[in-house]
Amino acid sequence: MAPNMRKLLIAANWKMYKTPAESTAFLTSFFPLIKKNEAAEVVLCPAMTSLPALVDAARGKSVAIGAQNMHWLNEGAYTGETSPTMLTAIGATHVLIGHSERRQYFNETDTTVNLKLKSALAHSLVPIVCVGEHLNEREQNLTADVLNLQVSVALEGIDPDALGTLVIAYEPVWAIGTGRTATPQIAEDAHKIIRARLAAIAGSHVADATRILYGGSVKPDNATNLCCLDDIDGALVGGASLDPDSFAQIIINATHRA
Ligand code: PGA
Repeated sequence: MAPNMRKLLIAANWKMYKTPAESTAFLTSFFPLIKKNEAAEVVLCPAMTSLPALVDAARGKSVAIGAQNMHWLNEGAYTGETSPTMLTAIGATHVLIGHSERRQYFNETDTTVNLKLKSALAHSLVPIVCVGEHLNEREQNLTADVLNLQVSVALEGIDPDALGTLVIAYEPVWAIGTGRTATPQIAEDAHKIIRARLAAIAGSHVADATRILYGGSVKPDNATNLCCLDDIDGALVGGASLDPDSFAQIIINATHRA
């Protein structure tokens, strides 16, 4: 498959920001700014409390709504958790899995990422699985080892035929929220490592079809250069996605490659 057969995907990770009213106000400003966009799929991942309001506000529009996390079970005595059936019941279609902040502050591991990925696929939620190395790992030349391990464990025991909707986000931890973006070449090299690993595990048809996003201090002024490379199929945007003008400009600039 030619690289440009993979549709660009630009996702917003709002983290623990915005009330429901603030979330819908964002959409009101945002829709007119991207009304010409057809080149990229756009996904907004708000806080859990904003999901129902955003699903309603985005109905009939070309913006999908996803969660930032979920449990892998359908129900149970797990205080504070949200299940995949709860997400699909309100109309969420995507879910972030294994974001580095979840790994760092909430003890998520490659093993829980694997459980969540299996569950998301079983519930027809589009999984966006986050991987990425820490600065000390990069400095010790361990980036490839870290990415290979994260991808391998995430996909363990999953039938390649079930991986049709899989999205991976490469988010080097040292670039998240720091203003320190990976150069396009660093990102492209990491994406090639991930795609090669996917091919080894699940076959080249899965590797060629899987979108790999870059995340980590993506801004309007670096979106074009990052998204113009063959192996970079879009972006996962944190801080710069909170403002409708800046997120819309990222989409416009990123789709210059298309
Ligand atoms: P950032 O966050 O764009 O603020 O670096 C990216 C992310 O955490 O997904």
